[in-house]
Amino acid sequence: MIYETHTHFDDKAFEADRDEAIKKAIEAGVGRFVNIGASMASSLRSIDIAHTYPEFYAAVGVHPEDCRDLDEGDMEKLLEMSSDEKVVAIGEIGLDYYWDEPERDIQKKWFRRQIKLALEADLPMIVHSRDAASDTLTILEEEDAGSVGGIIHCFSYGKEVARQCLDMGFYIGVGGVVTFKNGRKLKEVVESVPLDRIVTETDSPYMAPVPHRGKRNSSEYLPFIVEEIARIKGISAEEVEKVTWANAVALFGK
Ligand code: NI
Repeated sequence: MIYETHTHFDDKAFEADRDEAIKKAIEAGVGRFVNIGASMASSLRSIDIAHTYPEFYAAVGVHPEDCRDLDEGDMEKLLEMSSDEKVVAIGEIGLDYYWDEPERDIQKKWFRRQIKLALEADLPMIVHSRDAASDTLTILEEEDAGSVGGIIHCFSYGKEVARQCLDMGFYIGVGGVVTFKNGRKLKEVVESVPLDRIVTETDSPYMAPVPHRGKRNSSEYLPFIVEEIARIKGISAEEVEKVTWANAVALFGK
């Protein structure tokens, strides 16, 4: 069975057929899912989904793009949400310098604050980091993020940064990009990182793997990602599923 460590089934892209899409994913071999919060509202929706479907767990946290209006009251609410029995992580949190909105100081402030929250809640974190490798590593280090660890999701950097993330105790989240023709950098990372430090994810409804690239993504496409990891590593898809499943269970405790 495949462990889906990063999906957004609460997204409006699934409004019309959520039950059906989840059923298809389970039929495709996905045995467990973590629905990831990206805003205060979607964190609540993630908890709802986790209480609706037995195969689901939730992460609560606010994505860098959505952090402009956060305040301390929100941090209290997230801490309270994190005590829900179905919540297994804080996220997604991080830095996005590709969009560069809101400004970097605001992103950094709430990234640091939500790392503290993860430490306080004693939960691993799901980190979103785009075009911000150096600041991400510095902040993770300074805030002692490695003491709870987590996933650098949709990993987009090279082998050197991957090595530093592993040294800090993080897992590398591998998704649809690994199937792209121009996904060479991620393929190299997958080749160099030991399988026991890789977890599988889709980030659906975004980032659909080949042959569905450009369409709505869903967790039912995880087998394409597993197969590509297996091809790169020269091992069976079953072995990839078994090891990455165990990795996710070790991290989330579920
Ligand atoms: Ni995401």
